[in-house]
Amino acid sequence: MSAPAPITVTEYTDPGCVWSWASEPRLRLLRLRYGHLLAWRQVQGMQIADLHATRPGFDPEADAPEFLRKWTAVAEQTGAPITRRLRWMHRSTAPAGRAAIAARSQGPEAAARVLRRLREAVFLRGEPADSPARVRAALAGTPGLDLDRLLADLDSAPVRALQRDEAAEARRVHPATPQAADTGRPTPHPGHPVATGTGHRYGFPTLVLASGPHTIVLPGHRTTEEYEHALDRLRPGITALARPLPDPDDLLAETGTLTQPEVELLAGGRPPAGAIRVPTAAGDVWHPPVPAPVSTGPPEHLRPGATEHDIDPDDFRRALAGHPAGVVVVTAETGDGPAGLTATSFTSVSLSPPLVAFYIADTSSTWARLRHAGHFAVNLLAEDQHALAARFARSGTDRFAAPTAWRAGPHGTPLLEDAAAHLLCRVHETRVVGDHWLVVGRVHGASVHRTDTPLLYHQGAFGGFHPHG
Ligand SMILES: Cc1cc2nc3c(=O)[nH]c(=O)nc-3n(C[C@H](O)[C@H](O)[C@H](O)COP(=O)(O)O)c2cc1C
Repeated sequence: MSAPAPITVTEYTDPGCVWSWASEPRLRLLRLRYGHLLAWRQVQGMQIADLHATRPGFDPEADAPEFLRKWTAVAEQTGAPITRRLRWMHRSTAPAGRAAIAARSQGPEAAARVLRRLREAVFLRGEPADSPARVRAALAGTPGLDLDRLLADLDSAPVRALQRDEAAEARRVHPATPQAADTGRPTPHPGHPVATGTGHRYGFPTLVLASGPHTIVLPGHRTTEEYEHALDRLRPGITALARPLPDPDDLLAETGTLTQPEVELLAGGRPPAGAIRVPTAAGDVWHPPVPAPVSTGPPEHLRPGATEHDIDPDDFRRALAGHPAGVVVVTAETGDGPAGLTATSFTSVSLSPPLVAFYIADTSSTWARLRHAGHFAVNLLAEDQHALAARFARSGTDRFAAPTAWRAGPHGTPLLEDAAAHLLCRVHETRVVGDHWLVVGRVHGASVHRTDTPLLYHQGAFGGFHPHG
């Protein structure tokens, strides 16, 4: 006897749709449990073609708080994690939609990760990918993705044609949709078709399930039971064939992050072992521990212990002591309390994306704790803060105890009071270089509090900067 044909599921969605983001844990549950019995297809339905055209006077930055308020209301109703700060509202969701479409040619895993990253860029980081440059920034480092290839495909004729077709398909609303939206079951988002001026499009997300001659439309934000009930109507007994859910580590590996609703729904409330919990405005997000680095240290003959090219360590130190450097304190919430150290190895790296870096000794006990953090702050010190700098360089003391004055900032990251400036960073990359770790951070917030003389370190002493004239 041949196996029954799979139920086809067409998911109408958009990377920038907040209800799609809020429904994702439930849809993911369906894919995990019944994926082997379903032929699941996503249609990128183009939620926002161009806000400049439809909203006179649209200003991406100035209007962002108004959109964020609506998203926050969705978060309150669904538990979906939402950023506290939307840096700009996306003028259009077309670039992100095209990126999601372009990613499909690199395989289903890469495509799923890309869509996830695009959603995280909007809803977790508040940096929607509404231009090719922002798509690049949002997708940098996505495992299994050839980003250059995706960016080259983004504006190709076939991808643009697919986007047009999918937007049009999302506007051919199944006639049963309005009644399906009015099931009378409680939901904060029934998924009524949305008027477009010339017709209607599906409210995202909408699932259209089909098996043979039978079709069921499930618009809006629906419960797992409603989805399973629909599957069972199309194929009685299907719920007995559900696959067990993967363990939490595999769930985390699949998407790169896990949200609080995912941990609850998919992992029975048990987060993956060793994962880093990052609190957000509406629940926690778990990140994997910082991955073990692939050493990219110098060639063998230049490594410590080699003789031919080595300089006397004292000569090396003496020469470096002549190089003055600004002093910062790097701080992070580690999941096991705050950690931080004084550093002069801080430097800016890139303007777009905004990256900074510092080096930390592999032997440092501070690094043993700091390495578990997904975020850190750089506290730039002023000349009068030399005692603070000395305290954060001292081993065996509680550097955060009084008289250190600090408060918890975003993600719980400690921010030192009276610092000249704060940079808020997300760990972008770490790697071993010689006997230090290079830690590159992506800056997502900066505030300047003082512009008086900075603290410098030169010839083993702290001092200030005194300009000529
Ligand atoms: C001015 C100054 C600059 C420093 N810069 C760095 C640095 O860039 N990287 C680093 O790993 N340690 C640096 N240190 C050392 C650390 O601040 C601190 O002494 C070290 O973390 C102590 O070791 P522990 O982490 O095991 O407690 C610096 C110390 C001073 C006084």
